[in-house]
Amino acid sequence: MADQNTLVYFTVLHVLLNICLHTCQGKIFSRESQRHKQTVIVYLNDYNLNQVFDRKRRDVSDVGSVPTESNVKNNSLLSSSVFRIPDKLHSQAVVHWSGENGKVVFVLTRQTEHGFVTDSTLWRSSDYGTTFQRIDLPSDAVAEFIYSSPVKRNQLILTDILNKKVHYTNDEGITWTSSYVAFEPDKLLLHPTENQWLLGYSVISMELFSSGDFGKTWTLLHEAVSHRFYWAVENVDQKNLTVHMEIQDLHMLGPSKYLACVAPDCQDVTPDKDIGEIDPFSMIVRNEYVFVQFQ
Ligand SMILES: *[C@@H]1O[C@H](CO)[C@@H](O)[C@H](O)[C@H]1NC(C)=O
Ligand SMILES: *[C@@H]1O[C@H](CO)[C@@H](O)[C@H](O)[C@H]1NC(C)=O
Repeated sequence: MADQNTLVYFTVLHVLLNICLHTCQGKIFSRESQRHKQTVIVYLNDYNLNQVFDRKRRDVSDVGSVPTESNVKNNSLLSSSVFRIPDKLHSQAVVHWSGENGKVVFVLTRQTEHGFVTDSTLWRSSDYGTTFQRIDLPSDAVAEFIYSSPVKRNQLILTDILNKKVHYTNDEGITWTSSYVAFEPDKLLLHPTENQWLLGYSVISMELFSSGDFGKTWTLLHEAVSHRFYWAVENVDQKNLTVHMEIQDLHMLGPSKYLACVAPDCQDVTPDKDIGEIDPFSMIVRNEYVFVQFQ
């Protein structure tokens, strides 16, 4: 594990060094632990009969072992089934599984026009994808994306950019509540350890909001934030509600600033004020490191 992490750092450093070779210096300061998501986007256009969701499941005994060509072919290790989702309207599907041996799988089928989701339907399976049922969201709901809490898998949240709403559930998708948000929720970032906390970001207005009640109410954290923002890293940041962000020059031409502040009132906890101006879109938080780039 440690070696893997080291490899990642070196890769990032290598990239930065390559970019920086002539004019800039990098600054690294110490910071820890990444999680992975189980969300896959499937484009259904390729399927002739549309909306065929082919599911392959690894046997529990296979968890952790490396799939080789021979055991992939071995039917006792892989089971496969096909469920035809009765959806003829949509051409994309976001497949989401909360992980941790859970049996609940979501498929969000959606239609996009010019990159915007215009219509969607959410499907839920409670038997690991063998069968799916349609979820009743408010009739005008247009779900863009589905996020699940890394802490409690029964907590999920859908973004509805068109209606400026979020739809959330605390019982793994059986019942849903909707709430209005004061911004277009283009991107959410769920806290890695605090299940009630999340960040919401609007690309156009460049505003970053935080919510401490899983999406019910939101507070503006900071304006002029670039899309580079991160939650505190466990056992590294002293305050677990710390948010690392890059504040951008409003005209988007000038340099940016690195800021770390604590949600919800954005109390400044920037560890090193000497960093000063940094290159726009250069800030990356990886484990105990914050990478920035400057001239
Ligand atoms: C398939 O897996 C089972 C159980 O692990 C094993 O007994 C069997 O020999 C395997 N068959 C092949 C063809 O690899
Ligand atoms: C996060 O911080 C709060 C306040 O300091 C504390 O009560 C809570 O236990 C912390 N959570 C974790 C996961 O450490």
